[in-house]
Amino acid sequence: MNIPMLDLVAQYKAIKDEVLAAMMQVIETQQFIMGKEVAQLEAECAKVSHAKHGIGCASGTDALLLPLKVLDLKPGDEVITTPFTFFATAGTIHNAGGTPVFVDIQPDTFNIDPAAVKRAITPRTRAIMPVHLYGQLADMLELMQIGRSRGIKIIEDAAQAIGARRKIDGEWRVAGELGWVTGYSFFPSKNLGAWGDGGMMVTSDDAAADRLRKLRLHGGAKQYHHDEVGTNSRLDTLQAAVLLAKLPHLAHWSAKRREHAAYYSKGLAAIRQVKAPFVDPANEHIFHQYTLRVERRDELQAHLKKEGIGHAVYYPIPLHRQPCFAHLGYKDGSLPQAEQASHEVISLPIYPELTHPQLDRVIDSISGFYQ
Ligand SMILES: Cc1ncc(COP(=O)(O)O)c(C=O)c1O
Repeated sequence: MNIPMLDLVAQYKAIKDEVLAAMMQVIETQQFIMGKEVAQLEAECAKVSHAKHGIGCASGTDALLLPLKVLDLKPGDEVITTPFTFFATAGTIHNAGGTPVFVDIQPDTFNIDPAAVKRAITPRTRAIMPVHLYGQLADMLELMQIGRSRGIKIIEDAAQAIGARRKIDGEWRVAGELGWVTGYSFFPSKNLGAWGDGGMMVTSDDAAADRLRKLRLHGGAKQYHHDEVGTNSRLDTLQAAVLLAKLPHLAHWSAKRREHAAYYSKGLAAIRQVKAPFVDPANEHIFHQYTLRVERRDELQAHLKKEGIGHAVYYPIPLHRQPCFAHLGYKDGSLPQAEQASHEVISLPIYPELTHPQLDRVIDSISGFYQ
């Protein structure tokens, strides 16, 4: 039995009629650009994020780039972030005119280490960009305290974490609620995935929302009037319709992922060479990825490949070691936790539609490898 890393066709078959009906409504009206579904999805995303505003955009990358643009970064301005993330997190800092400052991660959650953030603050620090990696919130309370006392903005990269929660002072706080602006990605593989590219920014800052709305439409709130230079980064109406049809399923899908994660972790518990994901007790994880730390990672990859079992390494090269950031001067060993993680992590199939026989097959195959 081959098991793919992700089976979007399984999801498609389950919700095909609802999504196609939603798309047909857009097609019937031919309102492809900024149709009413975009505003509806913006309102829904603001609601799930406990935020005032949702602003759709063309991708998760733009959902980080545009808030960085709002900061009007000057050459030499710094944004502190994690090196253990998808490239867009740091690429957008560069493209917004800033300098990414990479700090190490916490080895258990793989999220940015607030103590390291604190040490990296300089008079040029303009923002901190935590990533809620794999679907688990970073330590937002600590980060907010660091940011607030110094007037530094927090931009949450929640591309992998829509609907993730963290209990702070006895209350559930959600991704998108605590940062200044939060970016979501609707890349098809995400927990809430479009049928193409898409992104969303949420914020409770009225002024920031106003600028973000302009920046995604060439810098003008009114057609042919441009207050500043923006770009074309609209969320496609057809994608908004797809996402609106999928949104009511999101909580159930994320719960299924949590169930599968618990099943894997139990099934793999006896293997000394494998460390199951650590969930911070304050967090409710949405398991965008289920990521193990393992011994002999590359050999395990080859074994799973031979066995027809999907897997992936997120991420094999931390961003401070990417050639495009060589000029920043980081060396091998600069950020040891991120570097070690990049040699040890492996993610397993975790999509909601997986069955117990499929999960058992993955567990048995990994057990067999380490026997
Ligand atoms: C952590 C992280 N940040 C940013 C992005 C960028 O999102 P997109 O691919 O929608 O541009 C992604 C997703 O691919 C991501 O995983």
